[in-house]
Amino acid sequence: MAVLVTGGAGYIGSHTVLWLKQAGEEVIVYDNLQKGHREAVLGDVFYRGDLHDEDQLDEIFSKHSIDAVIHFAANSLVGESVQDPLAYYENNVVGSYLLVRKMVERGVENIVFSSTAATYGEPLKVPIEEEDPTIPTNPYGETKLAIERMLKWADQAYGLKSVCLRYFNAAGADPEGQIGEDHTPETHLIPIVLQCALGQRESVSVFGEDYPTADGTCIRDYIHVMDLAQAHYLALEKLRATRVSGIYNLGNGTGFSVQEVIETCRRVTGEAIPAVVAPRRAGDPAVLIASSDKAMRELGWKPQYPDLETIVTHAWNWHKSRPQGYGK
Ligand code: UFG
Repeated sequence: MAVLVTGGAGYIGSHTVLWLKQAGEEVIVYDNLQKGHREAVLGDVFYRGDLHDEDQLDEIFSKHSIDAVIHFAANSLVGESVQDPLAYYENNVVGSYLLVRKMVERGVENIVFSSTAATYGEPLKVPIEEEDPTIPTNPYGETKLAIERMLKWADQAYGLKSVCLRYFNAAGADPEGQIGEDHTPETHLIPIVLQCALGQRESVSVFGEDYPTADGTCIRDYIHVMDLAQAHYLALEKLRATRVSGIYNLGNGTGFSVQEVIETCRRVTGEAIPAVVAPRRAGDPAVLIASSDKAMRELGWKPQYPDLETIVTHAWNWHKSRPQGYGK
């Protein structure tokens, strides 16, 4: 049986495809390449296409014996989602609806869904647990939560089993250096800091130094992208074996401030990396830290690279070897 990976040319999707291939899975990748990179796809079968293309989805489900879908394809920038919420409803909610409807029609009953810590909004406490309130503060988190809820009802009505994985801050790259992170525009902290180390930017802006944290900068829980990949595989195996749905946080349970991340990057790269304090970025919670106890207990997940220095080192190796990213 094969696994269909939507968005398998994106950052987390491509690393998950790599993991699945190494585990001996037959993988079909579906991606419209709006943000993803063809070169990042190490799977054997690739289709360029969009979730809104029902005919092409039909063809893929007809051609291959697919028993599960891992669904990454989505828009995923918080700021952009505030500027253009309808694009997020169309791509994320409508796109997922069309995929899920096709799965139900075709009797494909397992889905691992790429969700986010943004479903929680401003947390009432940290570490955040899965049962904590979900009150998104932006359309990105809102659309991901809407899809989680659609999956819950689809389970009840049609027996479609789902695992929703709420990632905290994905970072790092394949330790072997074959693939890594390449976003245009880049908005994430670690790649931006490493672009400064490469001399591609003059400085990094620290968005806010007046948060209620020890050094005044925001605290996040950085998780290695290959550890996320591992979790998707474990979720898939669990769905196939137990046919039980669930929602899981994925983080290391340790928070690092923006200043600490920059310091770590300076240590790893040996570069000075100038940092300039800038105003807060709208919608940034002060502290986001995951409790991932449930994923460890129920999925048997154990991060292999929990240490921030290792995460940054793998990211740095990638950016150094491919300073312009893919295909450039
Ligand atoms: N930051 C800076 N300067 C920059 C970029 C980021 O100071 O140039 C700060 C941000 O303000 C934030 C931290 O670095 O405090 C991390 O920012 P990222 O943009 O790297 O990541 P986010 O925490 O904003 O976003 C991540 C995921 C989103 C998800 C969100 C959940 O990338 O997909 O967590 O809140 F929605």
